[in-house]
Amino acid sequence: MSLIRLAYASTATFKAMPLEQGIEPNVSRILLSSRRNNPKKGLVGGLYYGDGHFFQYLEGDESAVHELYDRIKRDDRHKDVKTLIEEPLKTRTFSNWSMKYVPVAGDVGRFLRDNKLSKFDPYQFDSILCEQMIELVRASSHDDKLVNYGTRESRAHRTNPDIVSKGIRNGLIAAAVVLVAAVMVGGIVLF
Ligand SMILES: Cc1cc2nc3c(=O)[nH]c(=O)nc-3n(C[C@H](O)[C@H](O)[C@H](O)COP(=O)(O)O)c2cc1C
Repeated sequence: MSLIRLAYASTATFKAMPLEQGIEPNVSRILLSSRRNNPKKGLVGGLYYGDGHFFQYLEGDESAVHELYDRIKRDDRHKDVKTLIEEPLKTRTFSNWSMKYVPVAGDVGRFLRDNKLSKFDPYQFDSILCEQMIELVRASSHDDKLVNYGTRESRAHRTNPDIVSKGIRNGLIAAAVVLVAAVMVGGIVLF
């Protein structure tokens, strides 16, 4: 099994709904598909949609990435798909995320300002800007509840604070009962 990473730019064919907040409905549906399909294929990555353009980054087994990319390229919700990066990868860098999403433009706005770009146009990204964008999506923590696509297995291994605190509480109660009993027995023996 050989791992690869792939990033591409594309142009949305739908007209973005003006939203105060939340996710554009088309993008939301894409994320739902990703959430459903990507974990089954061991695919991880991130998606950004802004100024009518998509930037998507994928990591996974070469054949799974190619299979998905072929499907994505045929999707009529976008056009002019341009591969920006496609290369072998040693280890995954997006563990537990089948499709991370950056829902607010804040961080991307800063990225554009820092690089003196007037709008989000991933077709113009050189390799440095691509890496910065990937890092930005990777580091995004805005969407934990929204699209944390951890697999069921990985969720099961996550520590549940409720279980821990219940265990500690029961342990303390048991220790207190034993202590009280010991004091009472000690008292009876002494007097
Ligand atoms: C920009 C863009 C990104 C997409 N990313 C994914 C993806 O990561 N995973 C996925 O399964 N489908 C993705 N899709 C949707 C696929 O093109 C396709 O509609 C979907 O995989 C079909 O599967 P479904 O019938 O389970 O929805 C994307 C589509 C677009 C336009």
